[in-house]
Amino acid sequence: MTKRIILFASGNGSNVENICNFFEQNPSVSIVGVFTNNPKAGVIERAKQFNVEVHVFNKKDFTKGYLLEKVVKIKPKLIILAGFLWRIGEDWVKAFPKQIINIHPALLPKYGGKGMYGEHVHHAVKANKESETGITIHYVNENYDEGAIVFQKKVVLTENNSVAQIAAKVHELEYRYFPEIIAQLLEEVPNEV
Ligand code: GAR
Repeated sequence: MTKRIILFASGNGSNVENICNFFEQNPSVSIVGVFTNNPKAGVIERAKQFNVEVHVFNKKDFTKGYLLEKVVKIKPKLIILAGFLWRIGEDWVKAFPKQIINIHPALLPKYGGKGMYGEHVHHAVKANKESETGITIHYVNENYDEGAIVFQKKVVLTENNSVAQIAAKVHELEYRYFPEIIAQLLEEVPNEV
């Protein structure tokens, strides 16, 4: 039985591309949609390369339940936030308990919360002269970056690492581990869900 997954992203989409690559040769997992709130997002072209259907939605679709209705019909095993910047509402968390995961580019609970995304996180890490950073993959609840942690991986920083170098180190971890963790979680989700 094929396990359907969908991906949400707001920007560049390099993680989405990496996940699509990872599962391309895996007949038991099917990426049935990429959803974005940003009609100019790089993720749109990246997803199209894999012939994955792209859905662009607006705030109203998202907050009034129209999009949720559409996604419920797809019956995805997992909803994966890969660089998606809007807060997920309680209606989504209730409809998909323990089926929505997010990747965050830092070691939560550090550097999480509203406004802490992408480059902003790396700038803050640099400003605080942290000796390490990393990635966190976690279940999503109604608060930004607060759901139960599934996986974390650290990387060492040196004092002279630039923001761009910190970002590159974090992206490397994301590409290496995110698809594998998704695959592991898919093993755990019961088939009847
Ligand atoms: C990734 O580093 C991801 O961890 C981060 O956005 C980046 C998206 O890059 N997500 C967040 O900051 C969520 N709070 P990508 O579009 O190239 O995959």
